[in-house]
Amino acid sequence: MLSYKHAFHAGNFADVLKHLSWLDIIGYLEKKPKPFTLYDTHSGAGLYQLNDADAQKTGEYKTGIGAIQAHQFSDPLVKKYLNVCQVFLGRQQYPGSPLIALSSLARKEAVELMELHPTEYHSLKAACSTWPNAHVHHRDGLEGIIALTPPPNKRGAILIDPAYEQLSEYTDIVKTVSQVLRRWRNATIVIWYPRLSARAGNKSGASEKMVNALAEQAGAAFTAELTMTDDSKDAGMYGTGVLVLNPPWESDVRISAAMQEVVTQMPAGTSFACHWLKRAD
Ligand SMILES: C[S@@+](CC[C@H](N)C(=O)[O-])C[C@H]1O[C@@H](n2cnc3c(N)ncnc32)[C@H](O)[C@@H]1O
Repeated sequence: MLSYKHAFHAGNFADVLKHLSWLDIIGYLEKKPKPFTLYDTHSGAGLYQLNDADAQKTGEYKTGIGAIQAHQFSDPLVKKYLNVCQVFLGRQQYPGSPLIALSSLARKEAVELMELHPTEYHSLKAACSTWPNAHVHHRDGLEGIIALTPPPNKRGAILIDPAYEQLSEYTDIVKTVSQVLRRWRNATIVIWYPRLSARAGNKSGASEKMVNALAEQAGAAFTAELTMTDDSKDAGMYGTGVLVLNPPWESDVRISAAMQEVVTQMPAGTSFACHWLKRAD
């Protein structure tokens, strides 16, 4: 069942948290002059038109990137994120995680992009066609990440950003990450998840179970979570989170500082919190 289309949600509050966190991880890897590899298991279409029918139908970007794009922030991570987005926003576009990564990289490190949906895959290929370091795979991202890791020098990071259309995806991620960590113990892995109320039916509580099971497997783990006030829309999604396994030094501090500034421009009642589930020994 591949009915999810990210064009309806691109640039929303969940994308802001996810892409800003991903940029922090990438920025840290770039500090050392050693090659690394980035992996994006659920890449989406790569680039989204904010003035097309899909984005306009939901208007979700308005309480995400739309709410913050014109504000003068002082935080360096928010500035970096807006700087990466700026060229796209000028064309009424929003960059998906592949273009966030590709256009932020100072060196042309390898970026492995996986997408299963045929239409989204073709859009992704077109969106990344000018980036020789973008390797676009039409394949299952969870199968792909096991096959493609670890990278040659075991330096890099993984973004796992599924649509969670099926309940089984939550447990599939736990099994996949466990296999990856067996061969690449210190992999930094960012996993996006929705925060769902009881209105979400049998998916309610699934993110929390997955997050706890994943955190147990890593050397260290923290969550960064946004809470919105309104859970009446979108199947009870009242917030969004990213779990960071084996995070780089002080990424919790950088992401928290950035998000605390971001929430000041989001709808009233929006809050942000960061929690350590496991500290490094
Ligand atoms: C939430 S969207 C990705 C958004 C993207 N990461 C971003 O931040 O711009 C999830 C994507 O995963 C794709 N997808 C679903 N199941 C997949 C699978 N097993 N392997 C790879 N891609 C999959 C969907 O077609 C969809 O495009």
